[in-house]
Amino acid sequence: MLKKLLFTLILLNICVVVSAQVPTDYLPADFHKERRAILRSKMPKNAVAVVFSNPTRNRANDVDYVFHQDPNFYYLTGFREPNAVLVLFSENQKDAKGNSYNEILYVPKKDPRFEMWNGKRLGVEGAKKELGFAMAKTSEEFVTDAINFKSFDNVNILKLNDDYRNSERDKGEIYDLVKAFKKQSGYKNEEAKDPNIGYIHKAIANVPDAKLEEVAKELSKSLENYPEYKKDPIIKEYISATDDGLRRELKQKIKIKLQKNSESNIDVKFLSTALAEMREVKTPEELKLLTKAIRISAIGQVEVMKAMKPHMSETEIQGVHEFVYKKYGAEYEGYPSIVGAGNNGCVLHYIENNKTKLGNELVLMDLGAEYRGYTADVTRTIPANGKFSPEQKAIYELVLKAQDAGIKVCKPGNQFWKPGEATKQIINEGLAALGIISSPSAKHSYFPHGTSHHIGLDVHDPGTYGAFKENMVITVEPGIYIPEGSPCDKKWWGIAVRIEDDILITKNGPVNLSAEAPRTVENIEKMMAKKSILNDFLLPNLD
Ligand code: GLY
Ligand code: MN
Ligand code: MN
Repeated sequence: MLKKLLFTLILLNICVVVSAQVPTDYLPADFHKERRAILRSKMPKNAVAVVFSNPTRNRANDVDYVFHQDPNFYYLTGFREPNAVLVLFSENQKDAKGNSYNEILYVPKKDPRFEMWNGKRLGVEGAKKELGFAMAKTSEEFVTDAINFKSFDNVNILKLNDDYRNSERDKGEIYDLVKAFKKQSGYKNEEAKDPNIGYIHKAIANVPDAKLEEVAKELSKSLENYPEYKKDPIIKEYISATDDGLRRELKQKIKIKLQKNSESNIDVKFLSTALAEMREVKTPEELKLLTKAIRISAIGQVEVMKAMKPHMSETEIQGVHEFVYKKYGAEYEGYPSIVGAGNNGCVLHYIENNKTKLGNELVLMDLGAEYRGYTADVTRTIPANGKFSPEQKAIYELVLKAQDAGIKVCKPGNQFWKPGEATKQIINEGLAALGIISSPSAKHSYFPHGTSHHIGLDVHDPGTYGAFKENMVITVEPGIYIPEGSPCDKKWWGIAVRIEDDILITKNGPVNLSAEAPRTVENIEKMMAKKSILNDFLLPNLD
């Protein structure tokens, strides 16, 4: 008896040791289950939601890109493999044996040969046991055992990207799953269109005859920045029609078309809105992981502040950041790392990071670790030689002042555009005071991007962008970018500054989750004067 107990204890111990060797702090199965329950409660009657995982994507020949799960799919399932699909029903269904179910997760089947090369799959049993799905099937069954989607009043999907590759390695690839879905649901490519195009069509169909010309002109003007909408054949025909007779004819045509489309039970809007409403407010479990991703990223910035020297390259700086992330067990970067010295910082999505010497430039570093799916988004801009020049300091402190004003208005109830309004005003006034623009109201492109966005499973997380609510996490990221050749004194050329922090909205005011990385000129210079152990990390010279 004692022997048996001892044996059991040893076995248990081994299990604990073995399982402790992989991360155990992913979101729990109950989190995902609860998300599905909330989504189901928002669905109309006799409805179904179909959410596809991401596919694998080919890099070259037989090498694929590192797989990353679709955030919406992950949020609802916790499943981290490709080629899967979730089907969620608004009401209980019954199978042939009389078992009742309201969701099915289809996952790739276990395959020892595949798993020998590419690692373990969870499989149907794993999906049931570890993810808590009462009903799980193989992805192939989504094709062979197809659901009759036409029998539902409402079939909800997210916009299909339709860039799925048919590698023919497997019968349950996303390519096959989407093809089967289209066949079973009677989906037409029409529905894949940007839903905004549908809204514009609807609006045209409802324009009073007397206003047809006026609205066409207004629409043409307001679509100036959206050339893709102007290419839509109906919109194009409407804004280029030369008389009201043609416009009336077109209006009639759209009405008939809309009537036909409304017979379709497929909805590409509901899921994206419902998921945005859910994902924009973080739960305590999410906040724990997101805060960790942010702290890791801020500490990465601190280590770089200590290590940076003018002889270093942008790539090397990127490597130092990413080394810190990995040291904390972060699995990825949340987006391609940006390290841009001097003029390179003016390219907003600069990811080449290939300048070989930082020199005496300011270095803009926009980097975010992804930890258990949640991504930070933190930017610091620091002088490679450890001391801001007077011009660098003037621009830096202006951006900092704008950022402080932006952070201050991150309070529940304030509209999402508030930080943007605050930062723009300060930057415009400051640029005018420095003589870089002629007056605060002068048009310029030195601050060409927005100030805030949600972060979470996506670096640009979905949201409704209405009023701030408690437990949202957003960025506040003003910037000033003065590329060489700008219409101002040359002394400003090549200066690019962005300061980006991740702010938790609380009823007691904004909490800066990335505050561990210094932001003021004084604190950055102090940090940069500290010794880094990386200064002694010498490698053989290969030249
Ligand atoms: N890193 C992308 C952004 O700041 O929005
Ligand atoms: Mn950002
Ligand atoms: Mn960023």
